[in-house]
Amino acid sequence: MTTMSIQGAGSSSGISYQQVLDTDPVPPIPALRIQGDPVPGPEPTAIGVDRYLSREFADLERQRLWGDTWQFACRREHIPNVGDHVLYEVADQSIIVVRSGTDRIQAFRNTCRHRGTTLVEGKGNTAVFKCPFHGFAWSIDGTFRGMPAAWDFPHAEADALRLGEVAVAEWQGFVFVHPGADPEPFAAFSHPLADHFAQHPLADRVVAHHACQVVHANWKATMEAFLEAYHISTTHGHTIRFANDFDCQYDLFGPNVSRLLQAIGIPATALQGTVPAGEIARTVQKMLPAPDRVADVPDDVDVRAFLGERFRQSYSKRWGVDLSAASDAELLDSIQYFLFPNFAPWMGWSLPIAYRFRPWGDDPGQSLMEIMLLHPVGPGASREPAAEHWLEPGETWTHAPGFEALGMVVDQDIANLHRVQRGMRADPTHRLLLADYQESRIAHFHRRLNRQLGLS
Ligand code: FES
Ligand SMILES: [Fe+2]
Repeated sequence: MTTMSIQGAGSSSGISYQQVLDTDPVPPIPALRIQGDPVPGPEPTAIGVDRYLSREFADLERQRLWGDTWQFACRREHIPNVGDHVLYEVADQSIIVVRSGTDRIQAFRNTCRHRGTTLVEGKGNTAVFKCPFHGFAWSIDGTFRGMPAAWDFPHAEADALRLGEVAVAEWQGFVFVHPGADPEPFAAFSHPLADHFAQHPLADRVVAHHACQVVHANWKATMEAFLEAYHISTTHGHTIRFANDFDCQYDLFGPNVSRLLQAIGIPATALQGTVPAGEIARTVQKMLPAPDRVADVPDDVDVRAFLGERFRQSYSKRWGVDLSAASDAELLDSIQYFLFPNFAPWMGWSLPIAYRFRPWGDDPGQSLMEIMLLHPVGPGASREPAAEHWLEPGETWTHAPGFEALGMVVDQDIANLHRVQRGMRADPTHRLLLADYQESRIAHFHRRLNRQLGLS
């Protein structure tokens, strides 16, 4: 048997993301000039597929992850009025997130202090949480209000009957909860997200589209398919003449945050120098409505300058916001951040995405994937968030309202995921082989997960 040695050069031969930024006419915000830690050590590449398959591993996550970390629960526009509440559920956790005052959001365990019934199903507006079983009742700030036949509970103290409170943090309009006993302050946990997004805020946006799909793959496998661009040329072949693949920048920022930067208007590494500039510009501007496109694009156009200006004008008009100072990178590129364990907010205007991934039910082979599109709120625009669109079995993302072109890309990803889970089951002893750089965010995530679960 012959063996083949694969000698990695350690970096791609194409134009780096920072080199793309060097020539942009409208320069990027400083956050995009930062480069996080490079390649992680080799040890996380020894990731067995059992963690995607076994109930034991899912139970460990149930015990040590979901009940003891910060996680994105809802946007603030989901609960604009006092008494508005939503339910955030994952694994065993069921948490009521409620606007208990004009400027106050609280979160409580969805557990009756009498015999444990859930108090709330879904979302709504109320002044009182009243248990449907025997009628114990609480104010929306968690204060116990009383029970029927109170004479029969001489041993019960109102203070001890407060609803179980859960820590809450709000960041850029995203509401986070932490059900654990001793939460690390969110600002420290999420560092350096606050610094970066101060330069590109998301607070004044609204969930304009929101779609959910139950995917036949473990939540980690589903999420990891969206953390790297290594798969682009194979999975999303229709994009390689205008979107970069192997020269993307990957950054690791501390234990909980990572980032992917992909240049748009720059072909895949293998095609650089072979695609006429005019073709790239004409193709990418098709993302814009027809009246916002230019009919005659010269073949020697400066692609990023041309597209940056087209997108700047189009989005300013579409949303009624002033983007005259927005950089070409913010207007064009894929700028995806990740916050442990399951949340990915994007920065930018062309792909205003937020992802969330959760286990679904008790089957480690099922997950819930959500994509929200966060649009800016111009003068007079509605702040009403979009209702969730749940994809039916067999329904594609191209049918989800607002997801037409992006939906095709997501469908390509989902098609892989069913095969990933099936293939892992076919060899439960398999260990992942991860690329040093392009899959460094996946290794970074598993290192952090191992620590959370007490495995390292
Ligand atoms: S279980 Fe809630 S009032 Fe009895
Ligand atoms: Fe993809």
